Amino acid sequence: MSAGFLWVGTLSSGLQADSPLETQMNKMRRSFKELKKAMEAPVEADKQKYLGWVADLKKASEEAKTMEPEKAEKVPADQQKAFLEGYRSKMEESIELTDELGKAIEAGKWTEAKALIGQINQVQREGHSKYRGKEH
Ligand code: HEM
Repeated sequence: MSAGFLWVGTLSSGLQADSPLETQMNKMRRSFKELKKAMEAPVEADKQKYLGWVADLKKASEEAKTMEPEKAEKVPADQQKAFLEGYRSKMEESIELTDELGKAIEAGKWTEAKALIGQINQVQREGHSKYRGKEH
């Protein structure tokens, strides 16, 4: 682990700097926001651009999956393992849906792509209500 990681981690408890996970989540938000907007009126000609956002979302999600939510510190020791496993499997759900979204876009199945946006939104809501700290 780099010194930078520890430094940011230490700062976040006192000065509210973003945690490494929050940084990844903000990257996820950027590409997901573009996709959400684009799927309202998708066009065949912009497919490659959409697939680029899908790739960005997937990469940031995979990195987020290797990190730990700040809330983990507040979970009782005997529940830590289950908490982190639950977090990772929820993040994996999001990644799998992102893969499906990429396939739907590739195939030009726009109705399916829109439905997948809704499903990712739902998984995001579930993930946030369970694994994000109360201060947000
Ligand atoms: C496309 C899906 C998602 C997007 C766009 C997204 C976006 C964000 C954003 C912008 C933040 C930081 C600001 C805030 O707290 O409101 C955040 C925080 C967070 N998100 Fe997500 N999120 C997504 C999915 C998920 C999922 C599936 C989980 C759980 C498995 C999750 C867990 C968290 C946690 C734990 C935090 C707090 C950061 C920390 O503890 O350090 N997110 N998310």
